[in-house]
Amino acid sequence: MIVEKDFRISDIDPRVYGSFVEHLGRAIYGGVYEPGHPTADEHGFRGDVMSLVREMNVSVIRYPGGNFVSGYNWEDGVGPKELRPRRLDLAWRTVEPNEVGVNEFAHWTKKVGSELMMAVNLGTRGADAARNLVEYCNHPGGSYYSDLRKQHGYGQPHGIKLWCLGNEMDGPWQIGAKTAYEYGREALEAAKVMKWVDPSIELVACGSSSRAMPTFAEWEATILDLTYEHVEYVSLHTYYGNRDNDTPNFLARTLDMDQFINSVISICDYIKAKKRSSKTLHLSFDEWNVWYHSNEADKQVEPWTVAPPLLEDVYNLEDALLVGSMLISLLRRADRVKIACLAQLVNVIAPIMTQTGGSAWRQPTFYPFMHASTYGRGAALLPIIKSDKYDSKDFTDVPYLDAIAVFNEEQEELTIFAVNRNLEGGLEFSADLRGFKDYSVVEHIVLTHDDVKAVNTADNPNNVVPAANGNAEVVDGKLSALLSKQSWNVIRLARKV
Ligand code: AHR
Repeated sequence: MIVEKDFRISDIDPRVYGSFVEHLGRAIYGGVYEPGHPTADEHGFRGDVMSLVREMNVSVIRYPGGNFVSGYNWEDGVGPKELRPRRLDLAWRTVEPNEVGVNEFAHWTKKVGSELMMAVNLGTRGADAARNLVEYCNHPGGSYYSDLRKQHGYGQPHGIKLWCLGNEMDGPWQIGAKTAYEYGREALEAAKVMKWVDPSIELVACGSSSRAMPTFAEWEATILDLTYEHVEYVSLHTYYGNRDNDTPNFLARTLDMDQFINSVISICDYIKAKKRSSKTLHLSFDEWNVWYHSNEADKQVEPWTVAPPLLEDVYNLEDALLVGSMLISLLRRADRVKIACLAQLVNVIAPIMTQTGGSAWRQPTFYPFMHASTYGRGAALLPIIKSDKYDSKDFTDVPYLDAIAVFNEEQEELTIFAVNRNLEGGLEFSADLRGFKDYSVVEHIVLTHDDVKAVNTADNPNNVVPAANGNAEVVDGKLSALLSKQSWNVIRLARKV
């Protein structure tokens, strides 16, 4: 690898280290919120979960969905709790008690040190409900909805800057799914009035639910043609699975993610050219993760209950390696990907798990996110890498080494994130440090395990954990290390004083 100060991709927007909490399964009830839990605060929020979220350094949290938002009436979740309705949530076939709504969640995001990214319902509702919600959340006072917020005990506006115009509106599973033209028109009208209420907000238009959608690309081109001058971002969503137990192929999935990102950038720039616009659109990768372990179990869940255990994937080491690679893919396009949300945060396809009434623990996927979010602040440097390659079922020329360097100029720190995809053996890694000749290794953190399927559980929460036991060293401006087979590595360097 060549690591050169002047080969910069871009400064990394801290909002790429975001996550997502949906009213789904035990994400809110039994996860984030559990009055009566021994660690709960006076508002019913679990203290053990808050500590873990803070440890992850989550910059933004998308809320309240996901598929849930497309049938959600935000008014159900505000005001006196005893008056809030219990509703059928058609997206996940559960009962939503509405004990938590936008006010409680805004309060919680502040407590965990994150920014709230709010989604509006463009499935069963539209511009009217969306503009009222912006007024309720962001207008200081002296109008119906802002005064209602005050009456509900929230004198200060929440000041929510980031808003998603619906969720996955291209998917037939979505409540109120639309054609690209129908959605583009709806999103445009919602965007206009939301910004008339608060011109300082930023908007995310719904891109395709995945690159595999038959309407992918045409969808983006159509909706952006309609909304380009009214939105700041277009969304991307991707989930990967290892259904046929082919780990080398699974670990190569980020080649698909790279292509997805590059294609959406091309579509944005095509619309920019078509409109002779001076504005550049950015990407919000607001759902990404591994998701497949829980698919069968979910089919057995009884419908119409409150907070059943849904989408409770138990992640293993190979999932953590892919999550690490997905983070590297996001950083590789730090010039255009400005927001990204690991989907999701607690219990539902999540890095943090809880037992209702019991403990909370970290899944293996917790660690690469936490490392990237903690040490990956600064500028992403262009990864110039030579690596041996392999072919897998769906991919050719997959480099064994996936890596990126991040330079934090202020702290005079350089961090290299690296995945060794090789399941058979270690990888001799070396980096020419060019402009960083006076830097030395602070620590080399390694996340690995002999068993690529190893997991953490409530009874054995520390089975897959990182250790600062890597052997990276700098000799004459050359960094070298042996990257263990199937490993995630964080090599931290700082300027010698
Ligand atoms: O994150 C789980 C679900 O995945 C979300 O509700 C939806 O947006 C996506 O299909």
